Amino acid sequence: MPGLTGLIDWLDSRTGIKAGRAYLLDEPLPPGVNWWFVLGSILLFLLALQLISGSVLAMYYVAAPDHAYDSVRYVTDHVRFGGFVRGLHFFGASFIVIAAVAHMARVITFGSYKHPREVTWLTGVALLLVIMAFALTGYLLPWDQKAYWATTVTINIARSAPVFGEPIAAMMRGGSQLGALTLLRWYATHVLLLPAALGLLVVAHLYLMRRHGISGPVTPRPGAPTPFYPYHAIRDTLAVAAVFACLITLAATIRVPLDGMADPSDATYVPRPEWYFLSLFQLLKYFPGRLEPVATMVIPGAVVALVALLPFLDRRPERRPAKRRLVMVEGTKYPNTDAIPTQPIRCIRNA
Ligand code: HEM
Repeated sequence: MPGLTGLIDWLDSRTGIKAGRAYLLDEPLPPGVNWWFVLGSILLFLLALQLISGSVLAMYYVAAPDHAYDSVRYVTDHVRFGGFVRGLHFFGASFIVIAAVAHMARVITFGSYKHPREVTWLTGVALLLVIMAFALTGYLLPWDQKAYWATTVTINIARSAPVFGEPIAAMMRGGSQLGALTLLRWYATHVLLLPAALGLLVVAHLYLMRRHGISGPVTPRPGAPTPFYPYHAIRDTLAVAAVFACLITLAATIRVPLDGMADPSDATYVPRPEWYFLSLFQLLKYFPGRLEPVATMVIPGAVVALVALLPFLDRRPERRPAKRRLVMVEGTKYPNTDAIPTQPIRCIRNA
């Protein structure tokens, strides 16, 4: 009888798992990689958890206006651990938004978006948009008052776009009014299209991250690279465990709200978006009436374009935050970029 080692050797000869394990765990990291570099792994963990909790919820969910609300209430109140799983999914969404923004802020602060990581950055921006689309489409699914009226606002916002506004709104609605087809479309987008896009983008993001190596500290430190396992893997594991503990505590103690069932005839209901869309909501108040597209399209579009183009606008190799005050929001005092000594980005693979 071959032992465990024999079994692994057999599997390796058929699949190459040992090389795969080495590729994943022995990644050389530059000296000085620290706790700031755990945010990407936290995101990966949260996304995987969202996939699991979402799959459990999908076992009970019925994407039809007559049953959606009751199916969500049934999971919350009558399925064992159903309320907890719904809590993991609900609070997990907010955790992902926070982790993604923190990860992005780390990348900006460390200047890690610069050459040669421009495309890694672009895949990151696309991931952020996909995450927001998940949040938007998920909001309608419970089919309660909040879901119905917030989605009405979203579709009206899309309709306010010049030229393509009406066709886009019609595509989002699926019919002349918000109803069964709308729910089905948003559900299909939430559980099929967006997960597929997310999967592809995450694979591309991680492939590019490995291709260029981790950027490491702002000022490269002397010393030999250290393997990911066990040195950084310990940090990742502890950080993920801490985040998971917070999420479990929230999901176990706070009941996810569910309003009354959607009532299309009750136009007095004032919907409020999730906290991460509040600033956009606030912006709407400054641009009423015909100026609405400025708040719904022009400003958000300009912000996304500016963020996406950041590596192409800030092309200096300089990574120290104090020398990049414009990017760090304070206004630059260093207009003569050529005078600043360049500092090559250390990349293990290319070093
Ligand atoms: C679903 C969301 C995301 C996942 C799962 C993810 C995952 C990761 C992981 C595991 C790393 C390596 C470890 C680290 O630096 O923390 C990384 C690096 C990176 N990420 Fe993300 N990320 C996501 C979103 C984003 C976003 C929103 C941006 C920016 C717009 C971004 C830009 C980058 C860049 C430029 C790097 C290279 C950093 C370096 O070399 O130091 N990522 N990402």
